[in-house]
Amino acid sequence: MATSATTPNTLLLKNPTARATVKPSPTHAFPTPRATAKPLSIKCQHSATTAAPVSPPTTSTDRLFNFAAGPATLPENVLLKAQSELYNWRGAGMSVMEMSHRGKEFLSIIQKAESDLRKLLDISDDYAVLFLQGGATTQFASIPLNICKPEDPVDYIVTGSWGDKAYKEATKYCKPKVIWTGKPEKYTGLPVFDELDQSINARYLHICANETIHGVEFKDYPTVKNKDAVLVADMSSNFCSKPVDVSKFGIIYAGAQKNVGPSGVTIVIIRKDLIGHAQESTPVMLDYKIHADNNSLYNTPPCYGIYMCGLVFEDLLAQGGLVEVEKKNVKKAQILYDAIDGSGGFYRSPVEKSVRSLMNVPFTLEKAELEGEFVKEAAKEGMVQLKGHRSVGGMRASIYNAMPLAGVEKLVAFMKEFQAKHG
Ligand SMILES: Cc1ncc(COP(=O)(O)O)c(C=O)c1O
Repeated sequence: MATSATTPNTLLLKNPTARATVKPSPTHAFPTPRATAKPLSIKCQHSATTAAPVSPPTTSTDRLFNFAAGPATLPENVLLKAQSELYNWRGAGMSVMEMSHRGKEFLSIIQKAESDLRKLLDISDDYAVLFLQGGATTQFASIPLNICKPEDPVDYIVTGSWGDKAYKEATKYCKPKVIWTGKPEKYTGLPVFDELDQSINARYLHICANETIHGVEFKDYPTVKNKDAVLVADMSSNFCSKPVDVSKFGIIYAGAQKNVGPSGVTIVIIRKDLIGHAQESTPVMLDYKIHADNNSLYNTPPCYGIYMCGLVFEDLLAQGGLVEVEKKNVKKAQILYDAIDGSGGFYRSPVEKSVRSLMNVPFTLEKAELEGEFVKEAAKEGMVQLKGHRSVGGMRASIYNAMPLAGVEKLVAFMKEFQAKHG
């Protein structure tokens, strides 16, 4: 910390109210069965004193600003709601983790999660919504296995490491072609769509809508040339961060652990006519038809993760939906990019301005030798996980939906102080 005279930035840095201020709800709002049950002659093995939660709810002031790329920060009110429901979900006498995935309680949870997601993204009945496992990485294989034959050509636009991984996995199951790569420019830009050399008979065109490591985000989407082909998008790191016209896509998929929940849930939104054409060798767990026919309950789903996603969807709707959510995300990103661009070169964003991500903001220091100290000093101020991905170095601030404006303001104040000290 700079020891110079107090500035608005030092004030903001030191102001404890800059942290989120959501108050925990009292745990006693949900009576435990033991508090209300009549005495029984047969005693439960565990006494109430050993089974009841022992520590009081932690308060928001204990929390750090977590700029991790994923698993990432979750909304405080969602965490506190989950905390209040953890021990005994809405009087069911057990937690969501303990419920049968076929019981009426869990069915109500997954159905509400799906219907809220449909509202958020305005998903029509032409699309199935699947809650799966295996991360977005599993989808890299599921997609070609489900919608291509082994000899089918498909196109990939590679704008970063994730698009590249998706392409490489597809080489095992069909005939993918990279029709554009940002690698020569170190993944700092996007193609001009009109100049793309799309394969005439490609079955699909794959994009990664937001490259988490490189901070490159599609602001608009290419149109597929082959009228029988579909656009497929990995939206893992910008899912539900803004409105999206789902009808432009054949498949949208996303790991939950950035914007909408904990790791362990992968959401797939797929046009129904694309379901039911899997290659014969497709493992049952990768076959969209199996999951669609069974409403994502073919086997035991990631129940708790789906419940958490449902709470996040409720919260996003309560905020006014994705139009409002996007406004907040634009504001946060603007503040951070302005600080980088206004630093006179002390901080630098490698990404072309027009395609900079609203979610993942990589930046470097002119004096690269200070990067370690930046990360360490920021952590002392309660801002963690700012180190860039090991493949690119520098710093990266992931500012997903749940990162409060106060977190970004505090980071920017810290950046200015750090520059004043070392510039
Ligand atoms: C854009 C993108 N796609 C795919 C993945 C892989 O996701 P998972 O770890 O859920 O398999 C990630 C993970 O960070 C990602 O950011």
